[in-house]
Amino acid sequence: MTIKVAVPRETAPGERRVALVPSVVKQLDKLGVEVLLQAGAGESSGFNDADYEGVTVVDSADELYAAADVVLRVQPPTVEDAGKLREGSCLLGFMAPHEGDSRIKNLLKRRVTSFSMELVPRITRAQSIDALSSQASLAGYKCALLAASRSPRLFPMLTTAAGTIRPAKALVIGAGVAGLQAIATAKRLGAIVEAYDVRSATKEQVESLGGKFIDTGVKAEGEGGYARELTDDERRQQQEVLADHVAAADAVITTAAIPGRPAPKIIDKATVERMKRGAVIVDMAAETGGNCELTKAGDDVDHNGVIIVGPRNIASSAATHASEMYSRNLYNLLTLLVKEGELTLDWDDQVIADSCLTHDGEVRHEPTRERLEGGNK
Ligand code: NAI
Repeated sequence: MTIKVAVPRETAPGERRVALVPSVVKQLDKLGVEVLLQAGAGESSGFNDADYEGVTVVDSADELYAAADVVLRVQPPTVEDAGKLREGSCLLGFMAPHEGDSRIKNLLKRRVTSFSMELVPRITRAQSIDALSSQASLAGYKCALLAASRSPRLFPMLTTAAGTIRPAKALVIGAGVAGLQAIATAKRLGAIVEAYDVRSATKEQVESLGGKFIDTGVKAEGEGGYARELTDDERRQQQEVLADHVAAADAVITTAAIPGRPAPKIIDKATVERMKRGAVIVDMAAETGGNCELTKAGDDVDHNGVIIVGPRNIASSAATHASEMYSRNLYNLLTLLVKEGELTLDWDDQVIADSCLTHDGEVRHEPTRERLEGGNK
């Protein structure tokens, strides 16, 4: 029997992406699978049902789930949807494994094999599957554009008959995947860019993009190439040095994050009060608590003329390209799971083993299992 790969319409508020774009359907054909699409699934990312050649379009998500061997999603399913998945079927998508215990329990009840894009290991071989990176890169680009469009100043230097306009000063805090893209974008727009990260390896990367690295004297390399949380002393030292740079900036883009932890607070109210009127902060970490003390997720805050933007789901605002990249990430993961038209789970493959959240009624991701066993919500 041919494997049925199904793509529902995303239902999370504000989500415009789709897990499969028409150009990837052709590649799936080569894997020997049949594709089912919920009607209208691609609409908000710019694709009509008719663009998906050779797929079976079904009306309802229920119908889709009942038939699917493999479901491809962007956002985690709702608790209810998780309970509707076919017993023993496979689910690929962002799963937010650090939360949503009821959803995970439903996946266990349905004996669903779920793969969480957040858990894909950051190893060279898995780069083409790394959806955190593909989406963060788009988000970094969009944040720089947001900063430029919300600023009452121009980013580039302009010499005109009406005088010369000085370039804007942009500061990027957190120079991971998103931050580096924000630096590159702000630079291309003509701003003078400074950047800071607690990982010292980023100095060279920032400089290679034409940014100036700020040395706060604080280094906090953690496990697996990520940052660790700072001690109170380190945080104070960092804030003292950064505050002068924040106060002088026309635009600040913050992207600092620690996996599975609330976003580190880097810009306090007192520092915002030192900024000039018309300065803009775009806080990419808004959804996980924000890097700025005054950030409100999904809202703009005007504090004495300083605008603090707290965007949600930024990748979704570039839905067409975000979906294209995400869909390729999912396809590349699927190629590891489908061999000669059959679902084959090779648990010796690190990418498969690490990315799997639930399988056959068990939680395979250790921290999630411990949390569920501890009964914490
Ligand atoms: P992330 O989204 O977890 O964090 C963003 C940035 O915030 C990081 O660069 C982090 O160092 C920084 N940060 C954390 N606390 C901070 C603080 N208090 N002040 C300033 N900055 C702070 O990280 P992301 O962008 O997802 O990736 C981080 C690492 O993973 C990088 O080393 C990157 O090169 C590596 N990576 C490796 C890949 C691979 O080898 N396949 C693929 C993608 C990323």
